[in-house]
This record gives sequence, structure tokens and C-alpha cells, in this order.
Amino acid sequence: MKQADNQMLIIFGASGDLTARKLIPAIFDLFKGGFLPDNYIILGASRSKLSDEDFRNRVLLESSYFDLGKEEKELISSFTNKLFYEPIKGYESDFTDLAKRIGQLDKDYQTDQNYIFYLSTPPRVYKGIAENLASVGLSGETTGWSRLIVEKPFGYSLETAQNLNKELLQYFNESQIYRIDHYLGKETVQNLLVTRFSNSIFEPLWNRNYIQHIEITNAEDIGVGSRGGYYDKSGALRDMFQNHLMQIVSLVAMEPPLEANAAEIRNEKVKALRSIRIMNDPEVIEKNTIRGQYVATEIAGEKIKGYRDEEGVDPESLTETYAAIKFYIDNWRWKDVPFYVRTAKRMPTKVTEIVVHFKPTPHNLFSGSNSDNKLIIRIQPNEGVMIKFGVKVPGQGFKVEQANLDFYYSQLTGTKVMQAYERLLLDAMQGDATLYARGDEVEAAWKFVDPILKHWHQNKDVRMYGYGAGVWGPEVANELIDGEISWRNPGPNLSDDPGYCLLC
Ligand code: BG6
Repeated sequence: MKQADNQMLIIFGASGDLTARKLIPAIFDLFKGGFLPDNYIILGASRSKLSDEDFRNRVLLESSYFDLGKEEKELISSFTNKLFYEPIKGYESDFTDLAKRIGQLDKDYQTDQNYIFYLSTPPRVYKGIAENLASVGLSGETTGWSRLIVEKPFGYSLETAQNLNKELLQYFNESQIYRIDHYLGKETVQNLLVTRFSNSIFEPLWNRNYIQHIEITNAEDIGVGSRGGYYDKSGALRDMFQNHLMQIVSLVAMEPPLEANAAEIRNEKVKALRSIRIMNDPEVIEKNTIRGQYVATEIAGEKIKGYRDEEGVDPESLTETYAAIKFYIDNWRWKDVPFYVRTAKRMPTKVTEIVVHFKPTPHNLFSGSNSDNKLIIRIQPNEGVMIKFGVKVPGQGFKVEQANLDFYYSQLTGTKVMQAYERLLLDAMQGDATLYARGDEVEAAWKFVDPILKHWHQNKDVRMYGYGAGVWGPEVANELIDGEISWRNPGPNLSDDPGYCLLC
């Protein structure tokens, strides 16, 4: 195991929910697993006036995200001693006091002037933080190293993402910037690379000659909950599609990299993203995209709020909670292969999966048979991989039924699967940016999403379809998917077959 250098993690926006919910639990797990270097501390920084003790209570000792009763007392106490807090006046005001505290802690705990700055703040202050860090000499790498982890959203549009890249690059080099996308930290997303490039059985088929279409579904059963204020300014395209789903698309579509390292893998991903056909024509956008919003419903006697009734949401909101897009990738591998990608809240179940639909046999010998070949890569839950293929039903004649060949991650006993934030933080600690998005990748994804977003937002007459909570989005989405094929509406288990619906 590669050992990380001694270092300090400085979290901006440390009094916010992400720190308590994801970051501290992830680092605690790394600590328990023995992944932290000998000298490692965390300094929370934000505008709330907290002491070290308050911070320790908030994010660990009294945090509802921990069940400390299960942990050894000694372990808790040595982890507690790694946590510190420094209030700041504002993200755009002078960082001299913060720099002094960092310097003092660095001396006391010998973190060798190696710093990771985690931006868990509203994006509008990213630039100010980078600039302030540079002005107190914390962005340079003369003695130790300095890295910046940037949370999503990375821009609200192509233009704002390009500006943000330019602004950050004034103070940090690209090699110091780690744009986090927690989907890349999911074991099953990484397994896409291994499935494709460590098996000789899939790659020869992975192209226009054998694949009929690709389907990617990301569904959540929950609504926007308490995040209405944020979500209403964002919507499904910005919140999920531009980042998580475009990252998955790039891993499905990319060419084999020369080597399994950050530069080569990201070069191929960006090439794939750049090959996606951009839709600029309003008619093409309307034909190939669908937006929807969940409306109030009752499920088994329980009243479910409609999106416009959620807290923080404009009662006349035109923000999409459902987005489905059909698109093409203009290169040799993918010519004429449609990609159908959808994401939504308030679906029947929580699931993310990729379905590779193979073409039918050139000549159908067994009429009336159902032997569609599919490869299903289940990202969550019930993580695994399944192949569907035709087998003969015993008895006279040749009746064909579909059978499943499957693998489940849960079968791998003795292996602890790291949570996404745990894996990504460890990579950043070790200086490995493979699972972080590079600036050009983010911009390439925005280039595709931006015209759709603009068209949807600037044209009030673009249809916004309502769908009841607990169904697979608006019915019209079935028209998006061509010919006789239909969406695979998956269930909570990988082997569940299409048609699962909470209401039926
Ligand atoms: C976040 C989005 O990035 O991902 C949320 O902002 C969404 O709206 C979440 O709920 C989904 O993540 P996961 O890992 O639960 O699929």
C-alpha cells in the first residue's frame, strides 16, 4: 500500500452538512483502516464562531452520522485530537490569521507543509478562496505540496465553468486542482474500466457492429427534501447529468487508454466527451430531450408532495426533476448507436445502471423467442454485473427463454468496499487524480449540456411533463426510445426484470 505523506486537510465550509455527513466519517474510516500518515490533522474553517471543542462535538462526538458506541474509546480519542477549527471573517477577506494558525499547527504536528484545501462552500467564493490562499503563500509548492479539492457544482453553465477554470488556474496549476465527482469514487463505476479493458470477451463487441443502443438510468426514489432552495436553481441537468452521468458516459464510450494512469485515462475520457454530437438546433433538442417534474400523488395512503410544493421551491418553478436525453457519439466506434440517458427524482426505486443492448442475431431461427442479449452493469444498489442470454426451454421444439449470468459485489467476502468519499480523499492524499475530473473534461461535458439547458430555460413553451411520484417519469419518455425497444425499468435487485413499479 502506498503511504501518504504527512499532511493537513483544511476544510472551508466546515460547519456545513457535507463535513459532518461525508468528509469526517470518510476520514475516520481511513484512520481505522490504517491509511492515514503518522502526522495527519484536519482544520475546519468557516464563518461560524466555533472552538476546537465545539467542532469536535459537532462533527464527531455528538454527530448523528456516527455510532461511536461501537468504536474503541482510544480510537475515538486519538481521532478527536486530530480535529481543529479556525473561524474566519469571510471567504473573501484576508487569510492572514488562518495562515498563522495553519503555520502553527504545521509546526506542532509536523505535517511537513503539505496541505489539501477542500472547498465545501458555495461556488461563488471558490475564486476568492483560491486568491486569498495564494496571497498568503499557501498555493505554492516550494517546501511541501498544496492541493485544492473543488466540490460540485463546477459552474452553472459552459461560460461560468470556463471562467471558474481560468480563475482557479491563476492561483493553482491544473495538477494541483482536484474536481470531485463522487460517482467516480464508486467502486462499480471504476469497475467499468476493468470490465471493458481486462476482458477480451467484451471489448471486441463494444462498438457499432454489435451494440444496438446504450441505456443509462439514474433514479432516486426521494424528492428534493430540504434542498429545494439549491435544487430549484439547479435542476436534474445541472445536478446529475452534467457531472455524474456524463462521467459514466465517458467511461462507457472511451477508447482504451495507453496506460492506467491519470493522464492517459483522462485524455481518452475527454476525447469521448468531445465526440458527443452537440445539439444546437431547437427542433433537434425538442425531438431528443424530455423534461419533467413530479406532481403530488398518494401512494398507499401516504400523500407525497409535488415538486412545486416543496420547501424553497418557486410555486411556478420550471426546474426539471426528470431529464431524459437521446444522443449520438460521432466517432468510428459509436456511429449510429443511440445513447439514452435519464435521471430523475421520485422514481419507483433508487437505482443507477448501465445497460448495453446488443443487436439481435442476423437471422432469427427460433421464432417467437425472447433472447435479447444485454449486459447490465449495476452501479447501485445490489452492485454487480449481469449478462442476459437465450437458453433452450427443455422439451420438444426450440422454445427460447432468457437466462441470467450474474456477479454480485456482495459475493466478494473479506473485501471492504470503500465509500466514494473515502476512496477519493485517499487518492487526493496520495496525489492521484485519476478519479477526479480534469478542467477540459468538465468543459466538454458542459458543451453538450449547455445548449439544452439554454433552450429549456429560454423557451417557456418547451413542454414540462408532470409525472406522479413512484412511476418511471412521463409516459412520453417511451416515445424517445426508438422502434420496438423500451426502457428497462429496473427493480431494487439486479435480476429484477423490467416493469417494476411502486404503484402496481
Ligand atoms: C448529488 C446530487 O451529487 O448526488 C443529489 O446533488 C443526489 O441531488 C446525489 O441525490 C445522489 O448521489 P448517490 O450517491 O446517492 O447516487
